[in-house]
Amino acid sequence: MRIAISTGGGDAPGLNAVIRAAVLSAINRGWEVLGIKRGFAGLMGEDEVVPLTKDSVRGIAHLGGTILRTTNRGNPFHYPRKIADGTIVEEDRSDELIENAKGLGIDALISIGGDGSLTIAKLLCDKGMKIVGVPKTIDNDVSGTITTFGFDTAVNTALEAIDKLHTTAESHDRVIVLEVMGRDSGFIALHSGVAGTADVILIPEIPYDINKVCDKIMSRDRAGRHFSIVVVAEGAYPLGGMVSLIGDSLPGQARRLGGLCEPIAREIQRITGKETRSLVLGHLQRGGMPTGYDRLLATRFGGSAVRAVAARQWGHMVALQSPHIVAIPIEAALREPKRVDPTHDVVLTARETGISFGD
Ligand code: F6P
Repeated sequence: MRIAISTGGGDAPGLNAVIRAAVLSAINRGWEVLGIKRGFAGLMGEDEVVPLTKDSVRGIAHLGGTILRTTNRGNPFHYPRKIADGTIVEEDRSDELIENAKGLGIDALISIGGDGSLTIAKLLCDKGMKIVGVPKTIDNDVSGTITTFGFDTAVNTALEAIDKLHTTAESHDRVIVLEVMGRDSGFIALHSGVAGTADVILIPEIPYDINKVCDKIMSRDRAGRHFSIVVVAEGAYPLGGMVSLIGDSLPGQARRLGGLCEPIAREIQRITGKETRSLVLGHLQRGGMPTGYDRLLATRFGGSAVRAVAARQWGHMVALQSPHIVAIPIEAALREPKRVDPTHDVVLTARETGISFGD
């Protein structure tokens, strides 16, 4: 048996722990393992395919990033190509990818990725490739699994920032607006904001009214709490308004959300008269050592993915359905993206402990 492993989409802390667990579990079954570099690009002749041995995965479980590198471009079904006049056209090169995998003698692929890579994996499965998926994203927006690895680390990074912002905001009687990642889901903002006792949390699932945000800040001010911490998910948007986009995506890349914390800070300062600062936490949330929780989850996912390959569960992905890891059809996980449920107890508790969602 010869299997391959690839990591696609944005990196997330824990990828190396999945790779390590999958490689060791496979080798201990007597299988051979290949690493596809840079997502599917390695199977399109644009990067390397390397053997993965026990030595290649020694001492990597605690490292952020991915030893296999990754990309959020290069969907084989919409592969970008520059033509003579410089225009970019997209072509379906999935057959070529499948042929290349066959040529390498790959019996099965473990594809570690978020919704983008899992969608590609599903389409390749429909064309006969034997793939097991492993869900990965700091955003926690994949359905069917209670959580994805990388999320806990991102929440802890945001939490550390919120803790640090509290002391400086309080010292200066300032409002500080922190923008965190999450795409169209508010999990990172919600979890870090509640754990970090933020005063306002703005998430895509609950459109906000800036006047309500300012009411909260002013009511704190009247109560002698002259500072406030506002945590904003990059995909949050005002009631009746639109998400904020950073307009420089490259061909084949998803739209980039963000850039809303500075305009929100300006509005808060204008309406409340309180000195307001903002910062974007950005890619710090994707880097660094995975937390113990993420490392364990990633390791369990890696081992479970190999068991799913042994059970020939093609088109399935591993998922945490506590207390077990199960294999579910990728299609079922992709049907609906996971979003914060505004009636969830975390939201209710946040409201009951005085946090405003600006609604
Ligand atoms: O999906 C993970 C994520 O970090 C999102 O939270 C964020 O919107 C996006 O990726 C950023 O992508 P990039 O690294 O391409 O800017």
